[in-house]
Amino acid sequence: MVNWQNLDKLASFKELAVTKPACLVKEMTGENGAKRVREYSVKMAGGLVYNYAAKAVNDEILGILGKLAEEAQLTEKYEELYNGAVINTGEKRLVLHQLCRGQLGKDVIADGVNKSEFYNDQLKKINEFVEKVHNGEIVNEKGEKFTTAVQIGIGGSDLGPRAIYIALENWARKNGKLKMEAKFISNVDPDDAAAVLNATDLEHAIFVLVSKSGVTLETLTNEMFVKNALEKAGLDPSKHFVAVTSETSPLAKNEGYMAAFFMDDYIGGRYSSTSAVGGCILSLAFGPEVFACFLKGAHEMDKMAKEKDPLRNASMLDALIGVYERNVLGYESTAVLPYAQALARFPAHLQQLDMESNGKSVNRFGEAVDYVTGPVIFGEPGTNGQHSFYQLLHQGKTVIPMQFIGFRKSQLETDIEIEGSTSQAKLCANVAAQIVGFACGKADENPNKRFDGGRPSSIIVGDELTPAAVGALLAHFENKVMFQGFLWNVNSFDQEGVQLGKVLAKRVLAHDTDGALKEYSDLLNI
Ligand code: F6P
Repeated sequence: MVNWQNLDKLASFKELAVTKPACLVKEMTGENGAKRVREYSVKMAGGLVYNYAAKAVNDEILGILGKLAEEAQLTEKYEELYNGAVINTGEKRLVLHQLCRGQLGKDVIADGVNKSEFYNDQLKKINEFVEKVHNGEIVNEKGEKFTTAVQIGIGGSDLGPRAIYIALENWARKNGKLKMEAKFISNVDPDDAAAVLNATDLEHAIFVLVSKSGVTLETLTNEMFVKNALEKAGLDPSKHFVAVTSETSPLAKNEGYMAAFFMDDYIGGRYSSTSAVGGCILSLAFGPEVFACFLKGAHEMDKMAKEKDPLRNASMLDALIGVYERNVLGYESTAVLPYAQALARFPAHLQQLDMESNGKSVNRFGEAVDYVTGPVIFGEPGTNGQHSFYQLLHQGKTVIPMQFIGFRKSQLETDIEIEGSTSQAKLCANVAAQIVGFACGKADENPNKRFDGGRPSSIIVGDELTPAAVGALLAHFENKVMFQGFLWNVNSFDQEGVQLGKVLAKRVLAHDTDGALKEYSDLLNI
């Protein structure tokens, strides 16, 4: 049996807290720095590697982090999770998103159902539906093929699938795999739905309504918004809509859809990209084979996360170093900086994944914890970020650890050489320069031009952003967040913190307000 203990009770954590921190400037300067870049690297799935040479760790600290992993029983907790224990204690649920991409342990039977079979069955149903859409067996009222798929959903029912679609759109275009264009509507701001609908050929569009609960205000409002637009265009909404939901949700009983595909309560919204939530839209867009490659990349990464030695387990090591930075070095944020335009929305997905999971103040038993938990996550693709907030990253009073992501090749491979280098070479040169600049700094007599260095980062590097690489990236961060939740002894799979706003918004709409809430309602003319 695993022992769920608070981080500050662990002897190895106490040892870590009194160990002299590594001096990153010294570690990364000269031949020692070169040696670290060669050696501080872990293989990931999807052709990626996690390089942590520019993190403020050394062999001594890594040794203690290894002991921490063992003492916190990270591998055993992961094993319990994928074998079907009730890890989501707050909601009394199993946590099964990894099972959507492959079985890691025993058969998981819940509610009398073999869950692996259930997820595979849903995927099979999606594939059959998608094949029929692509080959013209399922067509619009005029007997014409659908050309566009529009997902309606919010939070986990939007961010992951949207980020992945954007990540692979160019790759698919170049490789002749773009079967349908995908679009997304999420915000209840009417300008979101209106803008997407204005730019969409409604007659040839399939709308994928995604809501696990089937009660999310924004999503149901947008569903009516779209149905209204379809009716106004003389189209029958039931011939343009499919639903992805849980079998117990109100949407499951609705007959106004061409088809319904299911996930269940054991898949958290922010962890649902590899379930039917991502499966339907991404398979419509790229075809089931591409989605299968993406799942394989994620599954390979899940298998690698079983490794006990953190020096051979990128997700576990990333998690441990993150906890060291947060709880020992006191850093409050992490910047996610992909040097790949295709990953433009990936930081937004990670914001939800990380902050909704580990932004907690109580442990798994509902007791207040005495240490800090999840960091603030934000980011932008490089090099755009460089010309914006990197000033603070280089010279601000706050040290912000950075997670770079970079690829040797561009996706479209349409490039130009100017003054001796291609655009891709310039992109890669920038990320290399930034890592060293952040770590080593630069002396200058003028304090305004002085860079102290000591600003830690890691980089995930691959050849090219392929479906398998995107799957591996996604699973890496999901598993990192999971391991950090284990270390902090928090439940990373519920999100009570987002409920209050929903309740208050309903009161405003019902005009059941007083005090400040009433004043704000008046100010906003509700
Ligand atoms: O608002 C937060 C949240 O509960 C997320 O956790 C979830 O991803 C999102 O709402 C959407 O929920 P649903 O899929 O049930 O509509």
